[in-house]
Amino acid sequence: MHHFKNNAHYQETDNILDSALFDEAYEHIKEWDGYEPSPLHDLKGLAAEMGVGQILYKDESTRFGLKSFKSLGGAYAVVHVLQEHLSAKYPGVEITDQDLKDGKYTNDLKNFIVATATDGNHGRSVAWGAYECGIKCKIYMHSGVSQSRGVAVELLGAEVTWVDGNYDDSLLQVKRDAIENEWHIISDTSYDGYTYVPKYVMAGYTVMTKEISEQLKEEELPTHILIQGGVGGLAGAICAHAGKIWGEHRPRFVVVEPETADCLYQSAKIGRPKMVHIEQETLMGGLSCGEVSIIGWNILKNNANDFVTISDDNVKPAMCIMAMGIGVDDGIEAGESAVAGVAALMELKDKEKLRSALGIDSQSRILLFGTEGATDPELYNEIVSGG
Ligand SMILES: Cc1ncc(COP(=O)(O)O)c(C=O)c1O
Repeated sequence: MHHFKNNAHYQETDNILDSALFDEAYEHIKEWDGYEPSPLHDLKGLAAEMGVGQILYKDESTRFGLKSFKSLGGAYAVVHVLQEHLSAKYPGVEITDQDLKDGKYTNDLKNFIVATATDGNHGRSVAWGAYECGIKCKIYMHSGVSQSRGVAVELLGAEVTWVDGNYDDSLLQVKRDAIENEWHIISDTSYDGYTYVPKYVMAGYTVMTKEISEQLKEEELPTHILIQGGVGGLAGAICAHAGKIWGEHRPRFVVVEPETADCLYQSAKIGRPKMVHIEQETLMGGLSCGEVSIIGWNILKNNANDFVTISDDNVKPAMCIMAMGIGVDDGIEAGESAVAGVAALMELKDKEKLRSALGIDSQSRILLFGTEGATDPELYNEIVSGG
C-alpha cells in the first residue's frame, strides 16, 4: 500500500461543480419509477474484525435493478441532455422526465444518438437512460471487459463496439466516431473542452450523499470516508457534496485506488494530472482508469486528505467476507469494485504506522461506498463460491 497525505482542507467547490446541480438531480431522480434510498448498513462484525469503531456501508447493489451507483449518473445525464435539446426546439414548454419515458417526443429524437466508452457500469446506465427514453445508443467497451457486461448493455437495446486495448483506448475511439457521426457523448469522465455533461453525471451520484445525510444522525457523523477512485468522478462528486453538507466537519476524505491504475494518487503526488499507462488489469474493473477526470481532479486536489493504493490481494477475500457476513452482519452482495474500501481496511489491519498516518484507530467511524453488486454475475459467483 502506498499513501500520500495531501495538504488539503475543506474549500468551496461551487466554482468547479455547482452544488445547485445536486438538488436538481435529486429532485428528478427521486421521482423515477423504482426509486428508493439504498441501504446504509452498520457492519458491526466487520468493524470489530478490522479494529475500528464503526463501518457504515452504503450499499448500491440493488440501485434501480442495475446493481450499481452508476445508474444514478449516466441515465440522468441522458435525460438532461434530451430535455435541453428539446427545450431549444420548443421554447417555454416544460419537458418532464416522464414525457420522455412516455415517448411523447420519439419523433423529434429519432436521429438523436448517445454514445460512451465504459468499463461496464456507466455504459449500462447510459443504455438504460436511452432505452427508457426510446433513443439509440452506442457503447464502446475494451477487450478487458467481460462479455457478460456487453450482453447486459445489449439487452437494453444498445449497440456494443469492442475496442482492442484498455479503457483509455475505447475512450479515444468513441470520441473519434462521435465526431464523425454527430453522436452525443455522455461520458462519466471529463477533459479539457468536455465538462458540461459529466457535471450532470456527477450530480446524479450525489443522490447517495443526500440519502446518507438523511440516514445519519448528526452525532453519528463518520470520522473517515474511504472512497474508490477510477477517473475520480465519484470521489470528486461525493467530496464536493460532503463538503457542502458538513463543511468543516466533513469526514477525513481518503481516495482508494488499485496500485495498477493509480492516476489520482500519482497526480496528487506531483500536484497536477498525470496519465498512468495500465499494464495489468486490476480485478476491480470499474477502477481501471489511467487518466483523471478533470472536474474530479480539480475538486480532489484541494479537498481530499489522503490518497492510497491497494493491491488486488484482498479483493476476493473481501467479496467473500461481505457475501458471508461476519457474526452480527448479514451477507451483502458486493462486486469487485465495491470492496475497495474493505480491502483497504484489510490491508491496513496490521500496518500500525499507516493506520496512524491516516488517523485510523479503534474509535474511527468509517463510511464506505459499496458501489456495485454482482454486475458481472459469472465472475461474482466464481469468486464467491470459490471463497
Ligand atoms: C462499481 C464502480 N465503482 C467505482 C467506480 C469509480 O468511479 P469513477 O470512475 O467516477 O472514479 C466505477 C466506475 O466505473 C464503478 O463502476
